[in-house]
Amino acid sequence: MKTQVSKQNIPSVATDLLAVFAVDGAPVKTPKLPTQKEPEAIPQILLLSSDAAVQRAAEAVLASGEFKASANETLLLHSPLGLAAKRLLIVGLGKSAKATIHDLRRAGGTAVRFAKPRGIKNVAFVVPTAVEGWMALPPGPCVQAVVEGALLGDFDSDTYRSDRKDQSVQSVTLLATESDLTIAEQALRDGAIIADAQNFARSLVLEPGNVVTPAVLGERAKAMAEEVGLRCEVYGADKLHELKMGAFWAVAQGSEQPPALIVLTYTPDMSVKDGPVLGLVGKGITFDTGGISIKPADGMEKMKYDMGGGAAMLGAMRAIAGLKPAVRVICVVCAAENMPSGKAYRPGDIVTAKSGKTIEVMNTDAEGRMVLADGLNYARELGATHLIDAATLTGAVGVALGAVNAGAFSNDDATYEHFTRGLAVSGERFWRLPLDDDYREQIKSSIADIMNTGGSRLGGAITAAKFLQEFAEETPWIHLDIAAVTWIDDAKPWLAKGPTGTSVRSIVEWVRTYSAS
Ligand code: BES
Ligand code: ZN
Ligand code: ZN
Repeated sequence: MKTQVSKQNIPSVATDLLAVFAVDGAPVKTPKLPTQKEPEAIPQILLLSSDAAVQRAAEAVLASGEFKASANETLLLHSPLGLAAKRLLIVGLGKSAKATIHDLRRAGGTAVRFAKPRGIKNVAFVVPTAVEGWMALPPGPCVQAVVEGALLGDFDSDTYRSDRKDQSVQSVTLLATESDLTIAEQALRDGAIIADAQNFARSLVLEPGNVVTPAVLGERAKAMAEEVGLRCEVYGADKLHELKMGAFWAVAQGSEQPPALIVLTYTPDMSVKDGPVLGLVGKGITFDTGGISIKPADGMEKMKYDMGGGAAMLGAMRAIAGLKPAVRVICVVCAAENMPSGKAYRPGDIVTAKSGKTIEVMNTDAEGRMVLADGLNYARELGATHLIDAATLTGAVGVALGAVNAGAFSNDDATYEHFTRGLAVSGERFWRLPLDDDYREQIKSSIADIMNTGGSRLGGAITAAKFLQEFAEETPWIHLDIAAVTWIDDAKPWLAKGPTGTSVRSIVEWVRTYSAS
């Protein structure tokens, strides 16, 4: 998809689809006495364009009250009067007082997903401008949000369908006011880099386990790194042995597919000798059968997305290479396949992790924390001063938080504060869960240093995080459990069903908060 910024001369824009955003500007109801009748809420639709021609074209339909401007609601007009555009699409953002940049991102996606099945190939967006009754959002973030939404909305999980019609939107134009053009250009560039990186992660997650094996994940990482100018090394089983990665190897040993230890390095152009080195660590299980503690057949096909954390880290590195923050970043993805076989690790095995700690394996399906244990330790050895990991680690995180918020954990409030700042930009929802030492009791082993699962399922996402914490040791660290948000079975108006790429944007924004410039 081509994306560009253009000066607003809306009536003369000859496009297949002109998209304009709208909010419900009805005043918020004031508290009333119990005896008073509930006042009728009359929606007052505000079209977020200062252009008189757009306002006129939509006047009649908006006056009809048929369109409420609720979030992601759409209304289409053909041959709008006074406009050169073939169609005018109005996309709702919800209540005026509540609409955020994140609603705008989604609405941008909704417009593109509206266009795709109708074979509409080019879309022009009116960048929201101040109108009476709406507190305008700043133009830069608006442009970035719409571009991100549009690119993310254009992604579909249909690459393997032979009846696939490529209905991608070919060009998206952002119509900005003359005074905002420079800001808009930069915002468009950033938004395109970030969304393209998120889609890259999604495309990896979409791949089945027979196609993206650990070695292939390594090849894809290498190809990406070459394309964007990152250093990348991909190591096999020998390196795991050399580094004494006993926990990672325990998982890898059961598969015919060799593991891959993927290491990417981003060094900023300007020398940033001191300052933090950020270590991004991803779980890259290309298929998780559960191993000897085998999973039930029902739903096991989903476990092809068990490399979602690794894919997110590769996506984040892709964006970092494009955005060029002034901070050093390294990335370690531990890729393996978790299989049952005559060579597989067993419940009861005791293995020695790279850090020297011994692990009693209670359940071979708790493999993500095994590979990450060595990945986290290796990132520290490579010089990481701050760590973040992402993993489809536990079913329990979905029990705790559903598929709305993903789980986040940290051993350091200051580091987590950086992450919170990133979330304000990314709009992704993470909920911080506790790491009290009392939870550590559940994974205490009597015959080794630690067990890979406890006897109880209670607090499963937390005990998994406690396990990882042992390997982050004293290094400031954030753990993201994205198991329940990496894949959606039901499409949203702004997002196709399938891989979501959740966490890529938040990881990138976390990294940017450390940029020296
Ligand atoms: N990959 C799974 C977690 C998962 C579940 C990801 C659902 C995506 C959707 C992980 O390796 C796993 O199997 N975890 C076990 C841990 C248990 C054995 C302590 C789980 O969550 O059941
Ligand atoms: Zn598992
Ligand atoms: Zn897993």
